[in-house]
Amino acid sequence: MLRQALSTLVVGAILASLGACGTGGNTTGKRLVGISMPQGSSDRWRVDGRSMVEEFEAMGYASDLQYADDNIARQIAQIDNMISGNAEILIIASIDGTKLADVLAKAAAKKIPVIAYDRLIRDSPDVDCYATFDNYMVGVLQASFIEAGLGLSSGQGPFTIELFAGSPDDNNAYVFFDGAMAILQPYIDAHRLVVRSGLTDIDQITTMRWDGDIAEARMASLLATSYRNVRLDAVLAPYDGISRGVISALRFAGYGSPGQPLPIVTGQDAELASVKSIIAGVQSQTVFKDTRLLAKAAAQMSLSVMRGQQPTINDLKSYDNGKKVVPSYLLDPVSVDKTNYRSVLIDSGYYTETQLTT
Ligand code: GAL
Repeated sequence: MLRQALSTLVVGAILASLGACGTGGNTTGKRLVGISMPQGSSDRWRVDGRSMVEEFEAMGYASDLQYADDNIARQIAQIDNMISGNAEILIIASIDGTKLADVLAKAAAKKIPVIAYDRLIRDSPDVDCYATFDNYMVGVLQASFIEAGLGLSSGQGPFTIELFAGSPDDNNAYVFFDGAMAILQPYIDAHRLVVRSGLTDIDQITTMRWDGDIAEARMASLLATSYRNVRLDAVLAPYDGISRGVISALRFAGYGSPGQPLPIVTGQDAELASVKSIIAGVQSQTVFKDTRLLAKAAAQMSLSVMRGQQPTINDLKSYDNGKKVVPSYLLDPVSVDKTNYRSVLIDSGYYTETQLTT
């Protein structure tokens, strides 16, 4: 928080010298915002979309909110329609962050600014700003939970662990993994953590489209090949949908009884099913990213850009998209487990007690 507040304070001066975030301005006269979300079948993107529409409504803007069902061609077509429908600004959470350069060039030709939402849009110069969470910290929080849970820093072990990463076409997958490995790698090097499959390279452990079924199949195969007679102690899982897939394979293989407790399994997004699982003592942890705050930040960012003002930015170095370093605003993620879910998720109004207990 402090880091964020301080860097926000100094950013005005830095921006003045760098001329960092683009200001496309409102050239159409229509008060329409285009919001393109990757899919609407997981909790988080539904909440993101809903929160943004509410934010823009409160500011007097209409929104064109589209979900692309994880279909890249559909997302491109939806963005194209927003451009021809005279959206004043585009807010995009990409499916494949590398596939939007052509459609964004069309937006640039019409001077429609683009905000990358949660996921970095890569290989395009036509991205004005990026609103997201501190994605590196997400990985640090997941790995630190494993470190504490196993007692690694107090010399316990060795323990076994398997690593899962997110979708290879989502920049976030790499950032989460880098953050996690900053904590885990020294223990792996010191043989306090043993990855019996030997799969420690991100290219070997990604999960296309963050799909829980793919993760379940991979976990089942790892258990069958590397853990026939050896206990698995921890799984680095980067997203709740993946965590639930992993847990399902673990249960099928006999984990989850008093004689064979489940390993530590991390997660992300505080999805309802996973928070319930944490309360029930099944999934161990998740990382809460308050998407209401992200939606608010993206809406404020949009408003500033549309007014030709400099939006609030607190990171000018972390997100190089291959064409430019995209000026970013990073929010703080919070680790959630059974000891703090009440204060973090219920007291903040993100979930009601009833939602979590029924
Ligand atoms: C990432 C996002 C995560 C999670 C994942 C799967 O890009 O940052 O919070 O939602 O996608 O949807």
